[in-house]
Amino acid sequence: MCGIIGYVGAGDVVDIVHQGLINLEYRGYDSAGIAVRADGELLVEKTAGSIDAFEPPVADGATSAIGHTRWSTHGPPTERNAHPHLDCDDSIAVVHNGIIENYTELKAELEDHGFVSETDTEVVPHLIEDAFEDDPDQSLVEVVSSVTDRLEGSYAICVLRRDEDEIVATRDGSPLVLGHDEDGSFVASDVPAFLEHTREVSYLADGQVAALSADGIDVYEAGELVDLEVETVDWEPEAAQKAGYDHFMRKEIHEQPTALRQALTGRLDDEAGEVDLEVSFPDGYLDSLEEVQFVAAGTSYYAALFGARLVESLADLRASVFLASEYDGGAGRDPWRTLTVAVTQSGETKDTMDAIGVAADLGAGTLAVTNVVGSSVTRAVDQTVYIRAGPEIGVAASKSFASQVMTLAMVAIFLGRARGTLSRSAARRRIDELGSVPGAIQQVLDVEEEVRETAAEYLDAEAFFFIGREVGYPVSLEGALKLKEIAYVHAEGFAAGELKHGPLALVTEESPVLSVLTAGTAPERTRHNVAEAQARGAPAIGFVTEGLDIDQLDVAFTVPDVGWMEPLVANVYLQLFAYHVANELDRPIDKPRNLAKSVTVG
Ligand code: AGP
Repeated sequence: MCGIIGYVGAGDVVDIVHQGLINLEYRGYDSAGIAVRADGELLVEKTAGSIDAFEPPVADGATSAIGHTRWSTHGPPTERNAHPHLDCDDSIAVVHNGIIENYTELKAELEDHGFVSETDTEVVPHLIEDAFEDDPDQSLVEVVSSVTDRLEGSYAICVLRRDEDEIVATRDGSPLVLGHDEDGSFVASDVPAFLEHTREVSYLADGQVAALSADGIDVYEAGELVDLEVETVDWEPEAAQKAGYDHFMRKEIHEQPTALRQALTGRLDDEAGEVDLEVSFPDGYLDSLEEVQFVAAGTSYYAALFGARLVESLADLRASVFLASEYDGGAGRDPWRTLTVAVTQSGETKDTMDAIGVAADLGAGTLAVTNVVGSSVTRAVDQTVYIRAGPEIGVAASKSFASQVMTLAMVAIFLGRARGTLSRSAARRRIDELGSVPGAIQQVLDVEEEVRETAAEYLDAEAFFFIGREVGYPVSLEGALKLKEIAYVHAEGFAAGELKHGPLALVTEESPVLSVLTAGTAPERTRHNVAEAQARGAPAIGFVTEGLDIDQLDVAFTVPDVGWMEPLVANVYLQLFAYHVANELDRPIDKPRNLAKSVTVG
């Protein structure tokens, strides 16, 4: 998610906003910029990459400024695409966090305007420019309100105008927090931006509009002034960067409902039963496909295993999944009828980059599913679908796994509809179920304390085994990996039917078995594998679709009935379980020993 900071007042405006961006760096970004109002002019400086070497505008007599750290969603991370964005007359500066779904339609209305970036955000200053041309007597609050009423999607927006010493801010779906001290007023996407100046903050609600001046902040709702509750932040800055969570990983586990809504935003047409991933293929190509190959590593490999089963089921296509480090191009297959998909959160994993390069050299069509706009993998493939999870700071993947799986589910629907193997009604059902996943995950997050208690109960186990069938199998693998990665505990995932073919020899009363028992993964068969383990004394912890009558478990957690994505919802239990085991063991959860967030070596 992008970082926003705005200030108007008698303080050192440029320094306050520049330091605010530095305080927001933890959010992850790939470009940045500041617009300053000084002596009736707007001065703007931007940079691609880090703000370490960034020189903010030099502006004596500055009275207000807005700044932004950008996490790209539309357009690569370049200086041109960095915020703030300006109108034709350089008299209006705008910074934005979120996704404006209808920006192409709005941009079409602005064809007489000059655009310099590839971003969705840039339509906003030009819409404001037009609104003032239509009626110059409007206030900035009135114009920003009318313009943002036309935006679809999610946004947190700050506007700075050359002709007045006021910042106007509004939001819908992306956070904005307000503050005021004796010298001036602050607005930001997150508290750490200005926590050093004031701990008294107010949170803007969706649809509200704030007008910041040196003297204070007026907030409007439907054109009427409203009072916001003032809260006192008692976090220290470092804790505030984690929004009060003890670790980035736990924050990112809890961000999953928001991240998944972002993945889905603007891509689902549940009426038509279609998915729009902004990718296109030559006529006949998708019909001629014989195979989809996935190449990935680690958690992304498990997401690919999950996605491959969906592609096979919905698109009637052979789907093969390769560990990127083992990929040889699928010897003997016809590359002209093969689509090779790189699944990689960072977009930089060397094993995956090498594998997708082999596929491209063989002549296969290539697609990337990644979280980082402009990452290396996006330049190595024909097309890219972004998972839009926002920055993932914890070394162990959490929200990115869910976002990858949801994105691959959309890819499967897209392929099935394009190939005519998925009916409109079946697609509509799948799309509806996708839409219910964020809320189902929130239900799991709401019972985190019960998971913590279970983690504490089995903390001293010698090993943990995870089992599941069908797409419950990759979830079991991912659950085991989390526990290994952050708790340093022996854990293994198995296909449930495999337990009796060897691993059962490891099962004792000291090795809890955690099983995915969701409706679509043959729970009536998996429960027998659970019984095999229980017969050896193993404690049985299970994740069961609500309403299923499975009463043999020592500990049972309910998975909301959301259909095909239930194992993905069950995975949140496994994330929380691993987190709380690691936390009870006082592990450095965000930075596990020996591991890196992006493995760029072979
Ligand atoms: C997962 O928790 C690990 N961080 C690791 O397995 C990771 O998934 C793997 O290195 C692949 O990274 P990528 O998704 O950035 O390619």
